[in-house]
Amino acid sequence: SGPALPRRAAADIPVIAHRGASEDVPEHTLAAYEAALFQGADGLECDVRLTADMHLVCVHDRRVNRTSNGRGVVSTLELAQLRQLDFGSWKQPPGDSEYVEVPDLRREGAHRVLTLERLLELVVDHPRRVEMAIETKHPTRYAGLVEEHLVALLDRFGLAHPRLGERSPVRVMSFSAMSVRRIRRLAPSLETVLLLDRVPLRFRDGSLPRGARIAGPGIHILRTHPEYVARAHSMGNRVHVWTVDQASDIDLCVELGVDAIISNRPQAVLARLGRG
Ligand code: G3P
Ligand code: CA
Repeated sequence: SGPALPRRAAADIPVIAHRGASEDVPEHTLAAYEAALFQGADGLECDVRLTADMHLVCVHDRRVNRTSNGRGVVSTLELAQLRQLDFGSWKQPPGDSEYVEVPDLRREGAHRVLTLERLLELVVDHPRRVEMAIETKHPTRYAGLVEEHLVALLDRFGLAHPRLGERSPVRVMSFSAMSVRRIRRLAPSLETVLLLDRVPLRFRDGSLPRGARIAGPGIHILRTHPEYVARAHSMGNRVHVWTVDQASDIDLCVELGVDAIISNRPQAVLARLGRG
């Protein structure tokens, strides 16, 4: 563990758009990420999987069935096959009950499968510094291939090995401690987040496995164990929380002084933090 960290002030909590502005726009599409940046999100979260021909694509589920008009397992499909699918038409456009800002998203390609490469182009071309929280999904399947391809791709953008004294805007997250370790081995100066859907007994004191410095608990953990944030801070570890959409949960994160809020509704969170 490192020196204790202070509780973060509301105005300094980065707001990370979970799968893009995914409450309003189909998740993991270019349109969802453009909308999030348009709304002022500080960063973007995405899940990555390898296709059969070894391209990293931004898809949450193992299958494309829920979020596209196709069927099948991502890892058995080639990128060209995924490109035939429509990843937008499953979702209703945002209603007008609550005002949200979304740019014109109907243009060609905005709802096609999104490669991580295209998403990184969006990020590096953006006039603001944009944080990226990239989650490796089911990394055991490929025994390290996801991490190797990910670090190689980040390297092409100059994002995997920041120079001394610099910090990459990218961090890699996983529920798999093994995946996090692989990333640290391949790219030692890249930040990593160990995602937690429950806190194992040995980490209840706020500690993390050796080398890890950021915990990624679900908001459900903080509802019942709000003391976890102060404990992690006392160990010198930061806390990035998912998926924070309700007003009461946003307020809890502010009260606890978490280090990042990951939300499907970045605009609503920014407004609640007084940055809208
Ligand atoms: O940001 C972490 C969160 O995305 C983990 O859950 O299932 O939405 O990927 P999931
Ligand atoms: Ca995720």
